[in-house]
Amino acid sequence: MSTPVRSPQGGSPCTRSSGWLLRAERVGKTFGQTSALVDATFELAPGEAVAVMGPSGSGKSTLLHVLAGILAPDSGTVIVRRTDGEGIDDLAALPDAARSGFRLRRFGFVFQQGLLLPELTAAENVALPLLLSGTARAEAEARAEHLLGRLGIGGFGGRRIGALSGGQAQRVAIARALSTEPSIVFADEPTGALDSRTADGVLGALLETRGQDGRALVVVTHDERVAARCDRTVRLHDGRIEAGR
Ligand SMILES: Nc1ncnc2c1ncn2[C@@H]1O[C@H](COP(=O)(O)OP(=O)(O)O)[C@@H](O)[C@H]1O
Ligand SMILES: [Mg+2]
Repeated sequence: MSTPVRSPQGGSPCTRSSGWLLRAERVGKTFGQTSALVDATFELAPGEAVAVMGPSGSGKSTLLHVLAGILAPDSGTVIVRRTDGEGIDDLAALPDAARSGFRLRRFGFVFQQGLLLPELTAAENVALPLLLSGTARAEAEARAEHLLGRLGIGGFGGRRIGALSGGQAQRVAIARALSTEPSIVFADEPTGALDSRTADGVLGALLETRGQDGRALVVVTHDERVAARCDRTVRLHDGRIEAGR
């Protein structure tokens, strides 16, 4: 399903640095008359946590969706290094079905409202991506229980999402995002709907998961305290990434 493009050592302009896991180059996206993203270049290293900040409407979600292969950019490239380090995949060049498969295997997602399925239990929600990628049910369930334990909600696996607090539900969402052992977790305002104390705990749980196996994190946030706990901050204004840190 993956499209070999060129080796990371191939000397193209995209391969200036050898340390990256994902690299977006001069990415643009417009919606009608709106330039949501203009000439955005962004590099993510293995194990790195990057905060994405900027005013409402500045293009944060669009950047996240393009980096994650949820949205195809109108211009530019988004390339991701393979887990074996031997090649790269150009997300923008993959057909939709292949891009979905790639996302399922390589990326995890946490959104403000979790996008959990309310009719399923916490453990079933966490196991779902594994079942979709072909893991046997018993193994998927065991892994879900393990992850819920790691996120501090081990006793809640049998509860439906509606019976959980907002903070517990976001921990379930994080456990689900981690279930397939992704290379990158993308989070869009993951603590935006939580009170600040709960948000701190959930963010801690999210940050603890990075660095393992070189897993990286890209988190859109309005909260300077969240940004302060990341390695680096990217600021957007009118669809452009501002210079500096
Ligand atoms: N699906 C869409 N259709 C039309 N306009 C969109 C769409 N998604 C985003 N936009 C517009 O693109 C700009 C950037 O949006 P977005 O990336 O959601 O910003 P942010 O996440 O920083 O609030 C905004 O002007 C927004 O209205
Ligand atoms: Mg947004």
